[in-house]
Amino acid sequence: MTNKTAMPGIFITLEGPDGSGKTSQIPLLADYLSHQGCEVVTTREPGGTAISDQVKDVLKSMKNKSMHPRTEILLFCSARAQLVEELIRPSLALGKIVLSDRYADSTLAYQGYGHGYDLALLRQLLDFATGGLWPDLTLYLDLDAEEGLNRRRSGGDEWDRLDDYALAFHQRVRKGYLEMVSAAPQRWRLIDACQIPRDVQSSLRQTVAEFLKIPNE
Ligand code: TMP
Repeated sequence: MTNKTAMPGIFITLEGPDGSGKTSQIPLLADYLSHQGCEVVTTREPGGTAISDQVKDVLKSMKNKSMHPRTEILLFCSARAQLVEELIRPSLALGKIVLSDRYADSTLAYQGYGHGYDLALLRQLLDFATGGLWPDLTLYLDLDAEEGLNRRRSGGDEWDRLDDYALAFHQRVRKGYLEMVSAAPQRWRLIDACQIPRDVQSSLRQTVAEFLKIPNE
């Protein structure tokens, strides 16, 4: 369900396993869109508002290793509810392009396919948390789970509680993403994240340009 009545903006999300490179690609994609004359707002999940950032700290802290997956699900949803109301909907209402590093599909991939929670139930929760707001376009950066974790380990970023789930968990997450891509090809596009970063960026630009019907140079 996409509930974007009277919202002229475009909502684009990037998804992918940990280490797939979304975070470094998004600013470059935003620059490209700005040069094409689009007004772009970038954000990320979990986080993106002062309240959502506080929830993110609870979610990621290594001190919270005993967190139950249901707690995790509700925390991701609460951080997202705030982000939607405070940033995403107002930006879309102003006709902007919102580019988000992760969104509700991450909950389906990680908590649904990864932890094994019922997907239909999660979709209901996500509809509640987001007021039914789903992206217009989702770019999935595909990468083998083991390669993604290796990149995370060697990337210099702090290793967090969520990275610490076992490889089998991350493999289920990737499988989940691939299932979502094939189930809804009108919204999802698969980008090969094994390419060198420059080529990943070219694929992203080409895909977004086609979707928005703007020049790709
Ligand atoms: P990142 O900041 O490296 O993208 O880390 C976010 C982590 O949180 C990543 O491991 C994916 C995970 N995550 C979920 O498990 N569920 C969610 O709904 C979201 C947004 C992220």
